Amino acid sequence: MNDTVVTYRRDGNVGVITTNNPPVNALGHAVRAGIMAALDEALSDNDAKAIVVACDGRTFHAGADISEFGKPPQPPFLGEVINRLENCTKPVVAALHGTALGGGLEIALGCHYRVANAGAQVGLPEVSLGIIPGAGGTQRLPRLIGVAAALDVIIGGKRLKAAAAHELGVIDAVVEDPVTDGAIAFAANLIAAAQGPRPIGAQSVDGSDSDIEEARTRYARRYRGYNAPFRAIDAVEASLTTPLAEGLVLERKLFEACNATIEARALQYAFFAERQAAKIKDLPKETPPRAVAQTAVIGGGTMGRGIAMVFADAGLPVTLLEISAEARDATLTAIAKSYDGMVSRGRLTRDVANDRLSRITGATDYVDLTAADLIVEAVFEEIDVKKEVIARLDAVVASDALIATNTSYLDVNALAAASAHPQRVLGMHFFSPANVMKLLEVVRADATSDTALATVMPLAKRLGKIPVVSGVCHGFIGNRMLQVYQREANRLLQEGATITQIDKAIFDFGLPMGPFAVRDLAGIDVGWRMRKAFGIGRAQDARYSAVPDLLCERDQFGQKTGVGFYIYEGGRKSIGENPLVAELAPAEAKELGIARREIDDTEIVERCIFAMINEGANLLDEGIAQRPSDIDIVWLNGYGFPAYRGGPMFYADTVRIEKLVSRLKDLKKEYGPEWSPAPLLARLHKDSKPLTSLNR
Ligand SMILES: NC(=O)c1ccc[n+]([C@@H]2O[C@H](COP(=O)([O-])OP(=O)(O)OC[C@H]3O[C@@H](n4cnc5c(N)ncnc54)[C@H](O)[C@@H]3O)[C@@H](O)[C@H]2O)c1
Repeated sequence: MNDTVVTYRRDGNVGVITTNNPPVNALGHAVRAGIMAALDEALSDNDAKAIVVACDGRTFHAGADISEFGKPPQPPFLGEVINRLENCTKPVVAALHGTALGGGLEIALGCHYRVANAGAQVGLPEVSLGIIPGAGGTQRLPRLIGVAAALDVIIGGKRLKAAAAHELGVIDAVVEDPVTDGAIAFAANLIAAAQGPRPIGAQSVDGSDSDIEEARTRYARRYRGYNAPFRAIDAVEASLTTPLAEGLVLERKLFEACNATIEARALQYAFFAERQAAKIKDLPKETPPRAVAQTAVIGGGTMGRGIAMVFADAGLPVTLLEISAEARDATLTAIAKSYDGMVSRGRLTRDVANDRLSRITGATDYVDLTAADLIVEAVFEEIDVKKEVIARLDAVVASDALIATNTSYLDVNALAAASAHPQRVLGMHFFSPANVMKLLEVVRADATSDTALATVMPLAKRLGKIPVVSGVCHGFIGNRMLQVYQREANRLLQEGATITQIDKAIFDFGLPMGPFAVRDLAGIDVGWRMRKAFGIGRAQDARYSAVPDLLCERDQFGQKTGVGFYIYEGGRKSIGENPLVAELAPAEAKELGIARREIDDTEIVERCIFAMINEGANLLDEGIAQRPSDIDIVWLNGYGFPAYRGGPMFYADTVRIEKLVSRLKDLKKEYGPEWSPAPLLARLHKDSKPLTSLNR
């Protein structure tokens, strides 16, 4: 018995180094040291004429050991292990299966040859974590496959499946399983053919400066505000002109500089936060989920169509119920058109689209829903309509079938009370477009059962969604924070900023669009109708801005009517501000006795973002959100908060709680009690603790 993580054995005249470090053979210290020791054995084994580097378990080295992130690394460093592999005097063959990502692929690039089984994937996802490949990836991959293809992998984050990797020359052969045997056979052939080592470092690079410039231009928009992707381009650029050893030194310097940025911390934090969000603190681990084989959606409007597609895309049959045969047919036609669009844009094959479409059946009669295990209602945002739907479902589906509401603002407790089995009711708040947006707020009502939650959280993942649990309140986590953010945008407009200035300040902060442009896109009327239904206005807020409502009263709803805050020509492109806004805002200021003034961009960002952070802290105190990182996941995935800032709560820590609280107090003096620092922030300030210290 050998219980070390890396072992050496010989098969014929091939030395085999095998790592067994479950679950993913991460390249932690023991593995790095183990490979070094095994290489000593292999090199001194005179009967070994070639060496295979392989892994047991479900994957080749899947990357660095993330538990070592942020800690001082212990030698031997990965780069040393890889250099040693590359400098071996015997040919070295990597045997890839599973996901050889990051450091895993870099190890393979240190080997002289690479074989993989058909299911293997390779990639260098470092820039998605705010860093760059730091163990030779930016120097060896361009030497192996050329600069342009390497940039696709390193900057574009492209993962290559075995066949594509073979075609590009990343791997030398696709072999049968077990991959280690395939690699041994490959190595035996090398010996027979007297093929020696073939270090990538000695190869010249196929590429030019124009590939580099092209990448800088191409990625400028996608990575606006980011650092790491551009440092990775710098590193790849060096491969064009410098020998390997020098390139490796530069790569290391760039890696370390990236690793010290807030961007790296933020992206690595978000990586863990997403996994954490799937866990509900007080849900007993052993709670068995209910089986979901059949699904249904009620209401085939904007959201219902998207939700039906989400189920169909995940392989679940779905019955979509509409109010009439015409509405049902119109919805099915719209869905078919949507899939057609994906086929014509090359995103889906016709066969896959047909397969997905075949899982969606239209209905108008509730008896067609009797077999459904999970039903999502997405009918009009009217409580009585929704209550009636739930009561009708109650009458036909199994008593333990789950009923989810996609409501944006209605009280899920009140909706649950419309069922004789309120424990089966919960919110599944999808974002628009439902088949694209990753976020799913799972709303836990007072009576929602553990089974319902234990079913929906893992199901969300199966649907390709990122679930975050929220308690019941007006707007749940995301929209409740959005409301205070919009409130501040409206007030800044009253006080003298223009919508263009406000939108630009927020865009420059990193959101994809400013608050007015977003409302034009989604339809200003959505909020207007909601506020009317809830009676929200001057009675609650003396400085309530009626500007959006006044636009809606003139049927100026945004892009869909060609005019909203901005004017649009031919759809989405704005040709300037709606002059009416510049009339209404000063008139409102006058009416409310607000003095207009010049406002700078810093104030715009602070007021919009700090208001949102303060509301987030209230959500934590009220137990609506479980942990700060859940709020961040909501804002990163549902509202386009810039990931390099980590989300609003992570961002608050980078601003520092002390500064935040002091600014909130100033704003309170100036504008009133809605700026009172949330009690949670005050406590953290007193204890000198960051918000993220509450993540668990
Ligand atoms: N649009 C969004 O961006 C968005 C985002 C998240 C959540 N929501 C929520 O999703 C729900 C639906 O919104 P939408 O934008 O898809 O609305 P929509 O008006 O586009 O669609 C509603 C659909 O429900 C159908 N319908 C109405 N009453 C019905 C009934 N009794 N039985 C069967 N079908 C019925 C209508 O015919 C219509 O097709 C609302 O609760 C809304 O708040 C919307």
